[in-house]
Amino acid sequence: MKGRYRGLALVSTLALLFLQAVAVPFSAAVDDSHDQTVLGDLYRLPSEPENNADRNDIVYPVAKEPEAATAPSWFTSTLMARRLLALSTTGVASTIFSHSPPENAHAPTPVAGHSISLKEYISDCDEALPPTSGNGGDGNPTFLALHVATTFRNTAAGSNISVSIDWWDHLSDTEPLFPGFPLSAAGLPRVTLIGYIEPFSTPVPEDTEAALRSCYLKAHPDARVWLPGQGNSPHTSFWARLVVTQVYWIGGFGGFQQIGWMNVTEWKGIRREKSLPGIGDGRGWQDVRLPGEKGY
Ligand SMILES: *[C@@H]1O[C@H](CO)[C@@H](O)[C@H](O)[C@H]1NC(C)=O
Ligand SMILES: *[C@@H]1O[C@H](CO)[C@@H](O)[C@H](O)[C@H]1NC(C)=O
Repeated sequence: MKGRYRGLALVSTLALLFLQAVAVPFSAAVDDSHDQTVLGDLYRLPSEPENNADRNDIVYPVAKEPEAATAPSWFTSTLMARRLLALSTTGVASTIFSHSPPENAHAPTPVAGHSISLKEYISDCDEALPPTSGNGGDGNPTFLALHVATTFRNTAAGSNISVSIDWWDHLSDTEPLFPGFPLSAAGLPRVTLIGYIEPFSTPVPEDTEAALRSCYLKAHPDARVWLPGQGNSPHTSFWARLVVTQVYWIGGFGGFQQIGWMNVTEWKGIRREKSLPGIGDGRGWQDVRLPGEKGY
């Protein structure tokens, strides 16, 4: 969605929230370089009624934006995004139905070319892998993929994939953006990882298999019943990673958070403690917190 349209949507939302009977002029500022709308420029609220005598029936909003809101830097935002991935155990995976599906596809013809979004288990396991199969935590999440699942049927038929994760479940742990502003999930981070599925080559070496199991089952203990090679499992599975090629971040409201495409070199170079040489400022994702996280 173009920043301008998001800007308009935000204007209407904020208008509904705050401006019941008060007419206030708006100007939506759009920073094209990052497709970003600046919330602070979207509305101006009078701190005092302008004409008490005639308008004392009007309830004035208490919201007042802070003097100078500043968004975290892009590198800090990328650390936040990597932390969000590290703390996430599910994501919504979007794939495209093939125009030339295999005969056993079991999908109605008219869905060819459509995207489908399905919630899937994920786990940020690269860090746990031995050096022969992992990269020390490069931001490529792991799947225990079922051959029968629509997501992985589509990727097997050539589809790329994007996976969206968010921090919206944590709304009740957060504070309003500023006094008088409502708690708002729309102000919390979400990130979409764009890329492709790469199955671990088989046979998966024993140490890699052990590391995958230990890491993934920590996040998803129930998945033990469909581990690869489980004789009694109804469905066969395989280990795969999402190789991230692009990252789209919405940190929250523009002006308070960054919105736009991340630097993928930074995404891949960030580690839990510090990052690779030449990446950022020496911090790792353990050095940032997401909104409402305890211990910040
Ligand atoms: C998948 O994405 C790559 C870019 O990473 C692109 O070159 C390729 O055409 C895409 N494949 C499909 C089937 O869209
Ligand atoms: C991405 O980050 C790397 C490492 O900090 C830097 O060398 C590169 O110039 C950045 N790329 C862009 C497009 O800013």
